[in-house]
Amino acid sequence: MYSQRDVSSCNTYNYGDALYWDTRYIQEGGSFDWYQRYSSLRPFVRHCFPLSSTLLMVGCGNAVMSEDMVRDGYEDIVNIDISSVAIDMMRRKYEYIPQLKYMQMDVRDMSYFPDESFDGVIDKGTLDSLMCGTDAPISASQMLAEVCRLLKPGGSYMLITYGDPTVRMPHLSKPVYNWKITLYNIPRPGFQKPETSTSARKSYLEPIPLTEKGSLPTDWVMEDPDSHFIYVCRKIIDTEIDNVPSYKLTTDVALNHW
Ligand SMILES: C[S@@+](CC[C@H](N)C(=O)[O-])C[C@H]1O[C@@H](n2cnc3c(N)ncnc32)[C@H](O)[C@@H]1O
Repeated sequence: MYSQRDVSSCNTYNYGDALYWDTRYIQEGGSFDWYQRYSSLRPFVRHCFPLSSTLLMVGCGNAVMSEDMVRDGYEDIVNIDISSVAIDMMRRKYEYIPQLKYMQMDVRDMSYFPDESFDGVIDKGTLDSLMCGTDAPISASQMLAEVCRLLKPGGSYMLITYGDPTVRMPHLSKPVYNWKITLYNIPRPGFQKPETSTSARKSYLEPIPLTEKGSLPTDWVMEDPDSHFIYVCRKIIDTEIDNVPSYKLTTDVALNHW
C-alpha cells in the first residue's frame, strides 16, 4: 500500500543527501522547525522525558526546538546533524547555552557514543529524510540500530514524522529493538477542525490503539490529512514482561517510500 503524501514528499529533493542539506543551510541560514514547534510537542516531550534526562536530538538542523527545551528546563541536549554547515551555525549561535552541545555526525554511525548513553532520543524529520535517500531501508535499519544501542533500558526514542503506521511500524517494530510503541497523531500547526467533523476524539494526547498488525484501527479518522504522527518507542527493561509484536515489511517500505 502506498501512502501518497509520503511518496510525493520524497520526489523533488534528495533529503537523504548531506550535500543537499549543506547547500540548503548555506542558502537559507536563519532557523526553521520542520513539522511542529516545541510548544505543540511539549506535552509529549515532558511526559516522556524528565527534565534531568540526557537527550540526543538526531538531525537537529537549524531548528529552535532544543533551545526551547532548555528554556523549559532541560539540562543536557546533545544535537547531531550530518550537515557541518548546520552544526557550525548552531554551535556559534548557542555558544552561550552550555546545556546545548552540537556535533557533526551521521545517525547511521554514532560509534562516538558508548552504548546506553542517553535517556532519550528525539527525531523530528530525520528518519523521514533517510527514507528519501538511496538504500533507504538499509539506512533506516542502521539508524534505528544505533538509536536502540544508545538508549538506556527504559529510555525512549520519540519519532515525529509524516509516516503513518503502514510505512513506519515495519521498521520500528523489529523484535531486535524490543521497543514498546505508543502512537499519537497531531494536526499540523494552524489546522482548524471542520465544524462538520464527526470525529469522537477527545484529545490529541490520547494514544491511538494500534491493531494487532500494527495498523490504524479501521474506524480511526485522520481529521487533518497533513497531520503528524508521534511514535514513542520505549526500550523495554529486561525484567519487564511484555509481548512486543512485530509487523511485516510491506512492499512500499522496501521500495523506498516514507
Ligand atoms: C527534515 S530536516 C529536520 C531538521 C530538524 N530536526 C527540524 O525538526 O527542523 C532533516 C535533518 O536531518 C539531517 N540529516 C539527514 N541525513 C542525516 C544523517 N544521515 N545523519 C544525521 N543527520 C542527517 C539533515 O541535515 C536535516 O538537518
